[in-house]
Amino acid sequence: MNYMSKNMHLVLMTFHAPITHTALSWADKEDGHLNGFSDFKYWTKMAKTLEKGCFDAIFFADTPAASDQFKGNADTPIKYGVGWPTHDPMPLVAIMASATEKLGVGVTLSINGTPPYLAARRISTLDYLSQGRIGWNVVTGHMQAEHRAIGNTLTKHDERYDRADEYLEVCYALWDAYSKGSVLKDKTAGILGDPSEIKRVDYSGKFYQCNAVPAILPSPQVRPVIFQAGSSGRGMQFAVQHAEAVFAIQPNIAAMCGFKKKLDIASNEAGKKPAKILFGLHFVIGSTDEEAENRLKQLESRVPIEAALSRMSAPLGIDASKLDLDKPLEKANTDASRGMMEALSKIEGKEKGKPPTLRQMANRLGVTGGLPQVVGGPEKIADQMEELWKNSGGFGFNLSAAVKPSMIEEFVEHVVPILQKRGIVRTDYSGNTLRDHLNS
Ligand SMILES: Cc1cc2nc3c(=O)[nH]c(=O)nc-3n(C[C@H](O)[C@H](O)[C@H](O)COP(=O)(O)O)c2cc1C
Repeated sequence: MNYMSKNMHLVLMTFHAPITHTALSWADKEDGHLNGFSDFKYWTKMAKTLEKGCFDAIFFADTPAASDQFKGNADTPIKYGVGWPTHDPMPLVAIMASATEKLGVGVTLSINGTPPYLAARRISTLDYLSQGRIGWNVVTGHMQAEHRAIGNTLTKHDERYDRADEYLEVCYALWDAYSKGSVLKDKTAGILGDPSEIKRVDYSGKFYQCNAVPAILPSPQVRPVIFQAGSSGRGMQFAVQHAEAVFAIQPNIAAMCGFKKKLDIASNEAGKKPAKILFGLHFVIGSTDEEAENRLKQLESRVPIEAALSRMSAPLGIDASKLDLDKPLEKANTDASRGMMEALSKIEGKEKGKPPTLRQMANRLGVTGGLPQVVGGPEKIADQMEELWKNSGGFGFNLSAAVKPSMIEEFVEHVVPILQKRGIVRTDYSGNTLRDHLNS
């Protein structure tokens, strides 16, 4: 069965960093993000814009360390601002939520470096403060640098998911420890909580231990929404087990359909409903199609191949400086992102029927991060999105704007009304929590 929602769900993907996917977009004359990203006011304005466009959520991706996979050092990321700097998105979650009333806020927090007890407490506190608008992108940390930064080493690919399963079991136990009515807030009797109705969690697993009563009040969603983005076989198993919506990057419609098919099989095997997939989609918008094409050309011409190669080295777990640029990338069983390796191999080469060379992959990835791309004036963007949404069996899009904030504002101002007129994007929120938005 193809999962097709009645609405096209929209999420905006960003990093707390100068760029999202387009290398050197910070150098574009229209870019306001490089200076804006240090300023709470910039972010709250963006939150309000997205809420005006009835987005389900803003989503903060995060990789907490500068990659040094390319040439064995972080010089290229630092020189070109690709994957460096990478600020903590967590403080932004509270300010985005406080600037809005309905917009969901998704945030990435790795299972590395934060014990599950503290992660459950932090995410739940945000869900409590935002009245139920928090989503957590649970990642296992595919970059070597982020493990080294905290004195660890990258563990084996599948074992990371075994750890993540346990990690979430601890979080669920903490979130589910309350029975209804256990928080009394009874001013007359002077009783806040009923200790007999709040369970102590006593978890002892292979990787994690926790012995505690939860120290937080239950939040409106009780279990905040879980997002997940693993797309290897083991990653999919984990996703269908835990995620309420799955983030995926597949470079074209054929790959999107293939991904959906595989995920549906995994859901079926786990006895679950087909997962809601938010496909990554990069966009370059102009007031006319021609203007958008010109904007794309400018963006493409600015990307040094080194910046793109450095960008792809981290998720693939390779050092692309050591490889022949004019040969296709050999698929390997990387301990980094197997899903990304698979997805990039599906990028079309310049010659029909032939796999892309590393240079072709890098050129594409430098601008789009490997996401499929829509380019045009508002009407053309809306047409392409509608077609992709209908034919991929997807649920919606995790949008990545090439230049920020101008292209986000143009999208909300000009594309959203077209999609609303076609009856496929909501004109108002019908619920209050992020879970409500995903289910509407
Ligand atoms: C849309 C999308 C967003 C992602 N965001 C993050 C992120 O913010 N931080 C991170 O460490 N990994 C992120 N990932 C990587 C995945 O969570 C996953 O760790 C990686 O793809 C390796 O898993 P796999 O081999 O199962 O695909 C993202 C992947 C996708 C497709």
